Amino acid sequence: MEQPIDQSPHAIDNMWSEVVEMPDNTKRDLAGAFAVLPAPQVMLGASGPGRDLYQRGLPEQGVASCAGCHGEVADGKGAAPRLAGQKPDYLKMQLWAFNLTARVHGPMNAGALKFSPAQIDALANYLAGK
Ligand code: HEC
Repeated sequence: MEQPIDQSPHAIDNMWSEVVEMPDNTKRDLAGAFAVLPAPQVMLGASGPGRDLYQRGLPEQGVASCAGCHGEVADGKGAAPRLAGQKPDYLKMQLWAFNLTARVHGPMNAGALKFSPAQIDALANYLAGK
């Protein structure tokens, strides 16, 4: 089967076969089980380029503040997931996937397209508490 191009190859290789035939109630049960796990404890840096980008976005390039959607301390809000305490390599991979539109989400693609590799590293390290 030809794979659609708007999906991360990691998701296709590792996750699709796991969930394609999973019943909805199992998905709900799993989501409920993950939702009650304790959040990772992480101390976000008080200053630095990652923090500035996260809090302000890039207003001169029309990139909104990340905090506006993901929350002041990156603990997630509505559809925008928790980022604080996530593994830095995972965060980098997702920001690159949005940058390259391998992962599709309009607002995330719009922001990530504008970031340099150094800015992606800075954001990922800040959110991971490094
Ligand atoms: C307009 C709201 C909005 C803004 C602004 C925004 N995000 Fe997001 N972000 C989301 C949503 C919603 C998702 C979930 C997308 C999905 O369902 O695939 C997401 C997903 C992510 C993910 C993937 C998380 C995961 O667990 O896979 C990362 C990383 C991320 N955002 C980082 C950022 C950063 C860094 C910024 C600032 C440059 C930012 N976001 C700005 C709404 C936003």
